[in-house]
Amino acid sequence: MDAAGVAEVWPVHGLALRTTDVALHVMTEADLDAVCRALPADVELDPAAARYAGLDEGSSRSAIVAQGYWRAFGTWSPEAWALPFVVRDGAGAVLGVQWLEGPQFASDQVVDSSSWLVCAARGSGLGKQMRTAVLELAFAHLDAVAAVTSAVLANAASLGVSRSLGYRDTHRSFLEHSGETLQHLRLERSAWVESGRGRAVSVSGLEGALPFFGLGDETA
Ligand SMILES: CC(C)(COP(=O)(O)OP(=O)(O)OC[C@H]1O[C@@H](n2cnc3c(N)ncnc32)[C@H](O)[C@@H]1OP(=O)(O)O)[C@@H](O)C(=O)NCCC(=O)NCCS
Repeated sequence: MDAAGVAEVWPVHGLALRTTDVALHVMTEADLDAVCRALPADVELDPAAARYAGLDEGSSRSAIVAQGYWRAFGTWSPEAWALPFVVRDGAGAVLGVQWLEGPQFASDQVVDSSSWLVCAARGSGLGKQMRTAVLELAFAHLDAVAAVTSAVLANAASLGVSRSLGYRDTHRSFLEHSGETLQHLRLERSAWVESGRGRAVSVSGLEGALPFFGLGDETA
């Protein structure tokens, strides 16, 4: 099935976001190969994911990425969803992945996020642009009331993105599997709207996707 056909049967796949330097399209199965090839070795994947004895490290990581993709859409509901975007530069090269999640969206309207970039694309503001893109989607179009995120204390780049976009530190927790400390942060909708940062983002393909987020029902 081509991209237009996929977006017709599952309109969430028609969603696209643009910032000054990057384009974010909802990940499709056809992106998995390029995403797995681009995935840097330092990006930590789900520690709870299934492991397969006999696979080398690269194949094992690719399997985790693929199952993460299928799980996201296979278990989607308006109550709890997870949305992966592939981030590309102007020439169409894959630069990374940005996730936006609403794990209890119907009850709390709070979104979470996570992301990675290829090493060569880090440190020049693209991490901020891709987070800005999904925050604008969440606050301006999906009625989110707050965004939360977290990163280990050693992850200065991730914490830097969050703090420079206005998130405030809330609390810390301990990661059993690695022994590291996780910093949790939160950004309120009012702070986002006041910042005006979302003006640099354009969103397309939204209308058909809204029912999948529990929105857009004029009869409700
Ligand atoms: C996290 C990541 C996506 C951030 O993207 P990035 O493009 O490197 O970050 P940016 O260039 O947009 O920087 C954003 C802010 O953080 C600051 N920052 C970036 N790297 C930093 C570092 N190593 N130390 C301190 N501050 C840093 C920047 O100064 C900037 O703040 P400012 O605009 O107020 O100056 C990217 O570094 C990455 O892929 N890291 C590996 C994967 C990962 O750890 N993901 C997070 C797990 S959820």
